Amino acid sequence: MILVTGTGGLIGNSVSDFFLKRKFDVIGVDNNQRKKFFGKNGSIEQNIIQLKKNKKFQHKFIDILDKKKLENIFKKNRFSLIVHAAAQPSHDWSATNPNLDFHTNAVGTLNILECVRKYNPNSTIIYLSTNKVYGDVVNSFKYKELKTRYEVKDKHKDGFDENINIDNSKHSPFGVSKLSGDLLVQEYGKYFGLKTCCLRAGCLTGETHAGVELHGFLSYLFKSAYYKKKYYIYGYKGKQVRDNLSSYDVSTIIWELYNKPPIPGEIFNIGGGRESNISILEAIKKCEAITKKKFDFKYVNTERSGDHKFWITNMKKFKKRYPKWKIKYSIDDIFLQMLDYENFRTFRK
Ligand SMILES: NC(=O)c1ccc[n+]([C@@H]2O[C@H](COP(=O)([O-])OP(=O)(O)OC[C@H]3O[C@@H](n4cnc5c(N)ncnc54)[C@H](O)[C@@H]3O)[C@@H](O)[C@H]2O)c1
Repeated sequence: MILVTGTGGLIGNSVSDFFLKRKFDVIGVDNNQRKKFFGKNGSIEQNIIQLKKNKKFQHKFIDILDKKKLENIFKKNRFSLIVHAAAQPSHDWSATNPNLDFHTNAVGTLNILECVRKYNPNSTIIYLSTNKVYGDVVNSFKYKELKTRYEVKDKHKDGFDENINIDNSKHSPFGVSKLSGDLLVQEYGKYFGLKTCCLRAGCLTGETHAGVELHGFLSYLFKSAYYKKKYYIYGYKGKQVRDNLSSYDVSTIIWELYNKPPIPGEIFNIGGGRESNISILEAIKKCEAITKKKFDFKYVNTERSGDHKFWITNMKKFKKRYPKWKIKYSIDDIFLQMLDYENFRTFRK
């Protein structure tokens, strides 16, 4: 049996689906906090309804800050794998309520870790961390400006690895709350010996993402194109680059970790890397090509505070430990999946 927190969200939903298809029993925890964070377009209700169609799935509508209810789940079940993907996921939203952001991401993670330590110390626990734990130090690297994107120079050309410094940079309250969770997860591995692992992800995406302006870059951009809504580009001339990894490819990473548990407290950067990345200007061009609709955007000449100018992940460390893993979906595949999904939703209405 496995436990997935944040089951209605992009990653939790995809991981649950992946393990259910492999005949695992899955308990999911999600209280649709995403709707409270981002409004009705952020609601994950449909994803839960979809998962509940499978008899091997049980849903618990609980808050990870409710220690008693969490403990009850752990007292009644034994999990071989715990995937902790429940979070306040937005860099920008975190500044509006740093207290709730910190509680959700840091204290919520501590609650899960304590339950594992007390009731389920033999399971593997995977924490969805983020590249925002490195802060904006990468903005001080050297870049070339090309026609549609920035490109990093010299020693970082294969992307950014786990040796980027976490100090002396701006993280946003979100970066700090996630880093706190990340350090706790490492410590419960190194100090208490639990089989914990942090996946420090670049942009993750997929067709079931409830993308909103404050979170879910590619999903929101695509929906703006598809539903003809104005999109705001903040700074960097729209040439900021993000790698994008599909939520399915995150699930196969977790599958590898399930089959060969991590060294306690291990960290890995994960992302689309050189194989799957795009700038905002390039994404707009692609959206116009596949939706056949004119993209409506407005440029705002100030970047988001602490936003990365460029991020491409170097996955050398993960690929060395797990040589069989390969990325399945490119950025073009991801766009086509989004198009199919929105066409299907529109057809159903
Ligand atoms: N999506 C990305 O681009 C990305 C990139 C890097 C890291 N990550 C990390 O991956 C993880 C999952 O991200 P996602 O994109 O699936 O986010 P998401 O918002 O789609 O999913 C998170 C889920 O957690 C639930 N949740 C939030 N607070 C909760 C609480 N207190 N109790 C119970 N459930 C709660 C939400 O309702 C939501 O369904 C997060 O930790 C995020 O920081 C995501």
